[in-house]
Amino acid sequence: MKQILLLLAAMLLCCCSSDSEVKADEPSHAGKTLVVYYSYTGNCREIVNTLTSQMEADVLEIQPAEKGQKYEANNYALGTQLLNAIKANPNNASSYPAIDPVTTSLDDYQNVIIVTPLWWSQMAAIMQTYLFQNASQMAGKHVGMIVSSASSGISQVVNDAKRLLPDATWMGDALWINNSNRSNKTSLIQNWIKTLNFAEEQTSMKEMYITIGGQTKSVTLVDNDATRELVAALQNAPITVTLNDNNFEIWGSLGRTLTTKNEQMIAQPGDVVLYNGSNICLFYGSSSWSYTRLGHIDGLSESELRTFLKAGQNNISVTLSLTSGTTAIKSVNGNRMEDGAYYTLNGVKVSNPSKGLYIKNGKKVII
Ligand SMILES: Cc1cc2nc3c(=O)[nH]c(=O)nc-3n(C[C@H](O)[C@H](O)[C@H](O)COP(=O)(O)O)c2cc1C
Repeated sequence: MKQILLLLAAMLLCCCSSDSEVKADEPSHAGKTLVVYYSYTGNCREIVNTLTSQMEADVLEIQPAEKGQKYEANNYALGTQLLNAIKANPNNASSYPAIDPVTTSLDDYQNVIIVTPLWWSQMAAIMQTYLFQNASQMAGKHVGMIVSSASSGISQVVNDAKRLLPDATWMGDALWINNSNRSNKTSLIQNWIKTLNFAEEQTSMKEMYITIGGQTKSVTLVDNDATRELVAALQNAPITVTLNDNNFEIWGSLGRTLTTKNEQMIAQPGDVVLYNGSNICLFYGSSSWSYTRLGHIDGLSESELRTFLKAGQNNISVTLSLTSGTTAIKSVNGNRMEDGAYYTLNGVKVSNPSKGLYIKNGKKVII
């Protein structure tokens, strides 16, 4: 009986764990990162949007060559058939479903993050094709993986990845996102990125604060020209803008133009983006458009965002700043600050501060 209970406990652990057998290697992965994903019903695409709002990375979407396929039809018959063909002959290129040609060269990247759906407990066949075709170019790269399923555990997907990329250097454990934790994907991904030991320049996100009607919330900024310019402007003084509702966002002029890095995206609740170079949009719903990503409002559910952003109202006064105003600053970029030391508003420690605005002992000080 005891043995059966132990076996059941082991099976439960295996099914419930968010991770896998892939183990962390040496710390601090420097260099450029490519996120490679496939998405049939959109979950992985949303994961990639969240991931790239939290770290600097280029994105490559893998597309099947045959369009309009219904992998789930007839009790997932086509999905099953594609996986069975691979299983029957995994070393033969013709076992894998054709994908659209890919022009992105892996030579430019040191790190690759795979974001894939799970199909019948295995890696989706379309993603398997890309990995099979690029195994030699992926040799020695630092590779991480996020797997999205409805509910099934991901250990077989991890095995597929290891079979397809025998010479990859795996970064940390794979992250499992499923229907029961999907609504928490922002914090799951944030915590997962921390476990990967990326070199700091890739993930050292800046924080900005948004104050509306006396409520202040933090925004994790991505690192691009627009956010650097915005932070530089906010170092002089907070910026107050008047925003109006647009059914899925509140938006309006930022009163300045920032350098754009527009990309087609599906903005998600909580996203903060730049539209047309000079307008800021704060999302409580979603919208597909070409924006420059600025960041993401931390830790609010969709209904909390609606309340905070005063969804449905107009002439909303919104203040952007680099401090939360009322609370002392205990840390920057997640690192504790040393007592008595001076930090720039971006959290860089300064040994001999010259004239300017700094943070010391959790407070803004002017020298
Ligand atoms: C062919 C096929 C097979 C699937 N098999 C499983 C399964 O065995 N277990 C499971 O939990 N989800 C299964 N799913 C659901 C997907 O893993 C899940 O919805 C995933 O989030 C889809 O990601 P996407 O929206 O990016 O395509 C399957 C989906 C398809 C299309």
